Amino acid sequence: MKILIVGSGGREHAIAWKVAESPRVDKIYCAPGNAGIAGCAECVSIGAMEFDRLADFAEENKIDLTVVGMDDPLVGGIVDVFEARGLRIFGPRKNAAILEGSKAFSKDLMKKYGIPTAAYETFDDPKKALEYLKTAPMPIVLKADGLALGKGVLICNTPEEAEAGVREIMMDKKFGSAGNQMVVEEFMTGREVSVLSFVDGNTVKIMTSSQDHKRAQDGDQGLNTGGMGTFSPSPFYTEEVDAFCREHIYQATVDAMKKEGRTFKGIIFFGLMLTPKGPRVLEYNARFGDPETQVVLPRMKNDIVDVFEACVDGRLNEIELEFEDNAAVCVVLASDGYPVKYEKGFKIKGLEKFEGKDGYYVFHAGTKFDQDGDIVTNGGRVLGVTATGATLKEARANAYEATEWIDFANKYMRHDIGKAIDDV
Ligand code: AMP
Ligand code: GLY
Repeated sequence: MKILIVGSGGREHAIAWKVAESPRVDKIYCAPGNAGIAGCAECVSIGAMEFDRLADFAEENKIDLTVVGMDDPLVGGIVDVFEARGLRIFGPRKNAAILEGSKAFSKDLMKKYGIPTAAYETFDDPKKALEYLKTAPMPIVLKADGLALGKGVLICNTPEEAEAGVREIMMDKKFGSAGNQMVVEEFMTGREVSVLSFVDGNTVKIMTSSQDHKRAQDGDQGLNTGGMGTFSPSPFYTEEVDAFCREHIYQATVDAMKKEGRTFKGIIFFGLMLTPKGPRVLEYNARFGDPETQVVLPRMKNDIVDVFEACVDGRLNEIELEFEDNAAVCVVLASDGYPVKYEKGFKIKGLEKFEGKDGYYVFHAGTKFDQDGDIVTNGGRVLGVTATGATLKEARANAYEATEWIDFANKYMRHDIGKAIDDV
């Protein structure tokens, strides 16, 4: 089989690595890819939003299946373009990817179908939002409706902060048209858990749980980032939590989308908060998480190509998902200054130390080849260093040991990824 993967980050590297393990696969392409992905796939310089060029490539190269890692092309309708040309592709159509593409849509869906989530109001008029926020209970959460690279969420502690937030999102349009509408949401407390799932339109199969660390600095301080590290499984995702979510959240979401005429095929990423009142949906994503994928896929036993195909063909009920009875931790090596301002183009040393080491992985996020053919930093998040272990503690020790094998000029990382697990 020939597979095309669309995307260029650590998540896509993890997907490409996992696809490469399949004995059914002869050739992998990745558009546009990065220097690490080039180790297991042929990178093609076509952008993820160039749907017609990607479809031309798939046709010309007789690609059997295209897998989309990123949210933008999914929300933009890449799947519809491929399907209209008779090309096989894994992911939700545009009318289903709206589950991630519009927070107002997903909140209304949850309300209509009784799926547990925070109470909310939606506004498209900033004046009405400002009026409402004068008397709303604080803290309160403001969310730009559309895609904003995970940065369109503001937690406000005072009415003044909330007012400034409305200006940022709806008036100054800091997140562009994503701020045409805004969701104002009740502030919740509790542990966050990420649950990724495969969906074939009717059946949903849950992968092992994980947790992301979104803030830039140790102790969950600093700005929100795309994710500074993950661990899997989450010890907070107990059997009781799992049973609740199976009963009230997972299948209910898939059924609701079908009833709305928006049958969902692909990945649903359930962002959950385990509140004192029980699990609540924080957000939905219509794709794998980054860097959740970097800890979930190394623990997955199935041939992922079988699972992708079962989703596309609507026979996921035939698949039993299996995960290793171990744990994994991913520590992101970033460029110092991320997510605000950072330099790039520094040579990365030590990548070869991962070769042949079972249970250790280095997934590239922002890397490229320089003129000399050396691999250099090319983004805020540079690498995701993942290690497995029998327990979370062991996996964490292994991952941090492996972060020492890598060196580049402005290397930055958090030192407390997975530390919360010491509390249990
Ligand atoms: P989201 O993009 O919706 O997942 O929001 C980003 C982050 O903001 C989440 O991972 C939470 O840490 C935080 N957050 C979002 N919604 C709420 C809420 N209703 N209450 C408390 N924290 C929230
Ligand atoms: N790690 C969070 C996300 O992928 O949205």
